[in-house]
Amino acid sequence: MGKGETEQSLIEMLDRERIPVHLAVIMDGNGRWAEKRGLPRAAGHRAGAEALRELVHFCAELGVKYITAYAFSTENWKRPRAEVDQLMALLVEYLYRELDEMDQQDVCFRAIGNPEDLPPEARQALADAVQRTRGNSGIVVNLALNYGGRRELVEAMRRLGAEIKAGRLEPADIVENTVQSHLYTAGIPDPDLLIRPAGEHRISNFMLWQAAYTEFWMTPVLWPDFGRVHLAQALLDFQRRERRYGGLNV
Ligand code: FPP
Repeated sequence: MGKGETEQSLIEMLDRERIPVHLAVIMDGNGRWAEKRGLPRAAGHRAGAEALRELVHFCAELGVKYITAYAFSTENWKRPRAEVDQLMALLVEYLYRELDEMDQQDVCFRAIGNPEDLPPEARQALADAVQRTRGNSGIVVNLALNYGGRRELVEAMRRLGAEIKAGRLEPADIVENTVQSHLYTAGIPDPDLLIRPAGEHRISNFMLWQAAYTEFWMTPVLWPDFGRVHLAQALLDFQRRERRYGGLNV
């Protein structure tokens, strides 16, 4: 059986009624992918951006409603300046290159994190992509940019504190939904499935609140090699699991 057939048969096994609403992905292993080929790390990021493009198209076909992709963390500033610059340039290139096609396919771009701290060109490209696609009703692609889960919680707490101080909120009235509505992901359901490639088994400060009941799927495959066949495997595995949310499902 050829590669295409394997992929096709996996896709046919999917239960189209139980596709995750929200898929989150930590795009890891770009550097290792490049090193294995004797290429600069930037080539790995470029191939990683291509893998994201494929993922978005496949998810849109399958009916996934939201993808959140970890593109740049609050910790990624610690990388060498040249690599940070390359990642930002790639983001700008990616957004402008993909915008027409994604817009035609009804993709809606959004960002979570603190993109206001990105370099001006990246901020502008993101603002253009968000503005242009804001009315689209297809798949929502949330780019986590300068994102940190702890920072997200700190900011939510600060805003809640300010509302209490202003007399608009009573501490006793804070419930889970109050916190949820102060996160970057306000209004978006929690991820059903989180994919972490490249053999890592960490949450890496990603969606700490939102991942409370998220199913994890890990694979040694490096992100640039992650394709339809891997997504189909992840979804089949997800569909075999029983989600109990702490209950018994008897
Ligand atoms: C982690 O791999 C990946 C990143 C820090 C950046 C992810 C960015 C992209 C896939 C491309 C840019 C995104 C867009 C939206 C254009 P790593 O470099 O840590 O890999 P390693 O662990 O093998 O070194």
